[in-house]
Amino acid sequence: MCGIVGYVGSRPALDVILDGLRRLEYRGYDSAGVAVLDGAGGLAVERKAGPLANLETRLAEVGTTQFNGTTGMGHTRWATHGGPTDRNAHPHRDNAGKVAVVHNGIIENFIALRAGLEADGVELTSDTDTEATAHLVARAYDEGPTAGDLAASVRAVSRRLEGAFTLLFTHADRPGEIVAARRSSPLVVGLGDGETFLGSDVAAFIEHTRDAVELGQDQVVTITADGYTVTDFAGEPVEVKPFRVTWDLAAAEKGGHDYFMLKEIEEQPTAIADTLRGHLIDRRIVLDEQRLADADLRDVDKVFVVACGTAYHSGLLAKYAIEHWTRLPVEVELASEFRYRDPVLDRQTLVVAISQSGETMDTLEAVRHAKEQKARVLAICNTNGAQIPRESDAVLYTHAGPEIGVAATKTFTSQIAATYLVGLALAQARGTKYPDEVAREFAELEAMPAAVASALEAVDATRELAYDLALSRAVLFLGRHVGYPVALEGALKLKELAYMHAEAFAAGELKHGPIALIEQGLPVVVVMPSPKGRAVLHAKLLSNIQEITARGARTVVIAEEGDETIRPFAHHLLEVPAVPTLLQPLVSTVPLQVLAAEIARARGYDVDKPRNLAKSVTVE
Ligand code: G6P
Repeated sequence: MCGIVGYVGSRPALDVILDGLRRLEYRGYDSAGVAVLDGAGGLAVERKAGPLANLETRLAEVGTTQFNGTTGMGHTRWATHGGPTDRNAHPHRDNAGKVAVVHNGIIENFIALRAGLEADGVELTSDTDTEATAHLVARAYDEGPTAGDLAASVRAVSRRLEGAFTLLFTHADRPGEIVAARRSSPLVVGLGDGETFLGSDVAAFIEHTRDAVELGQDQVVTITADGYTVTDFAGEPVEVKPFRVTWDLAAAEKGGHDYFMLKEIEEQPTAIADTLRGHLIDRRIVLDEQRLADADLRDVDKVFVVACGTAYHSGLLAKYAIEHWTRLPVEVELASEFRYRDPVLDRQTLVVAISQSGETMDTLEAVRHAKEQKARVLAICNTNGAQIPRESDAVLYTHAGPEIGVAATKTFTSQIAATYLVGLALAQARGTKYPDEVAREFAELEAMPAAVASALEAVDATRELAYDLALSRAVLFLGRHVGYPVALEGALKLKELAYMHAEAFAAGELKHGPIALIEQGLPVVVVMPSPKGRAVLHAKLLSNIQEITARGARTVVIAEEGDETIRPFAHHLLEVPAVPTLLQPLVSTVPLQVLAAEIARARGYDVDKPRNLAKSVTVE
């Protein structure tokens, strides 16, 4: 949700910023903009609605001579307040054109701030919540106790702001300096040699440095070419811990694929293996961070899983494994609903928050609510040091690497692996599984990267089928047991990417209503359970397939290799390797991901940047 880049150094800032924005565009692509200080009191700004390419075209038209400076910042927007137009694109400026600001988040008291400014005769030139901050900082810099001090001005204004924000400010009179403030939105500092970067995440500057610093809550950082200083909003210096980014530029590049999503689908075996690595030591599951006692885990008597979107589907799968292995009741909740219905939480409740980005506001607020109610919180996250893991009592990271495609793929399957590790950790803490049983389950998980790699071999066959289905009006998905969340995820992918009506049902529910939707030629994707592991369910789904075929449905069946009984009933058969029942989602998800991506491509859509979406959603 909005990507932010800042640069102070000796290179042309515009190039560095545009490169950074290219890597952050997955965060939002409603508009893009840049601001560069020329060092002689000039502040050049250009901004344009639409994807970054529109801004680049605009810059090529108007020329970039006035962008001749080595300090600057850029923004790629996912619109919240004010439509995705040129005038609402960031950076925003004060009326004198001295201060520029870019923003990620929502300033909740913007109406009052705008009204106050207008009453004072300030002319507002956009419909955004952001613009007010440029005027306020300009004023604080011009007069009063903070005059002439940009960091102090930013601190004073930040104290007046409500909501979530990462804000970067430059002042035309202060070349060589950017001041940024952060509350509940992400911001990292990149430390180069004679140059310093700011980014919504490290992808913004990974090309230049892997040394970084993560800012904490309610902190202000000033960067110059020589380094950075951090204070809290009151101006007290604070210690921050540098870290080294473990992945490199290649991980954030397409690696020869037409689009990131396909690359990321193919990276799933590695992502799952990396997520599992190092978590079984002496037949015991270990988490990445644990700030609670083993006894606290042992005493858990109820589990809630909270998450959004694809992460929610991995949570639905977690329920099957955790209940089966621990005999603990597990409820899975959409994070956006969780805190508004007053869930019953206490010290013995474990809330598992799953979030790829670790910054999804709905999930973060669910975590905060759980903590207020004294529940323990365990985070599963793909982003080191993000807000959700920071506020949690225990953390298990998925090590899927950067995921650039907006639709989650490798982080979904890694989340499944991680939630299963959490299930095993709980089983060992509660003594419902002996160490050798835990080790056996872990070994089965460890065999999954190879199984997923073999599922990937069917990519080409799936691609052909996708071209066949691309003209359909709607697609239904059916599954049972762990196949049901897989069906939900398959339908979500198709909605997100191909903008098709796609809906998933638990196959047992078919007869209670959805069967009325079946009509001649309607594609129905069926996720079959194993004929061995779940023979009873397999037989029932086989009947369902016959019921829908009799009514004209065209079936696309995902089935285990060697499942001969299904052949006569499948119009299209996509085979996946035979694996233990609880692990089947790891393989059966793969063809559904490819199908959605390739249908989207066949329909001419941008697979990596679907309309109206953003990868991380930092607003409620
Ligand atoms: C957005 C993305 C989804 C993602 C969801 C949760 O809606 O478009 O792909 O599943 O957020 O994101 P998180 O980072 O919390 O996993």
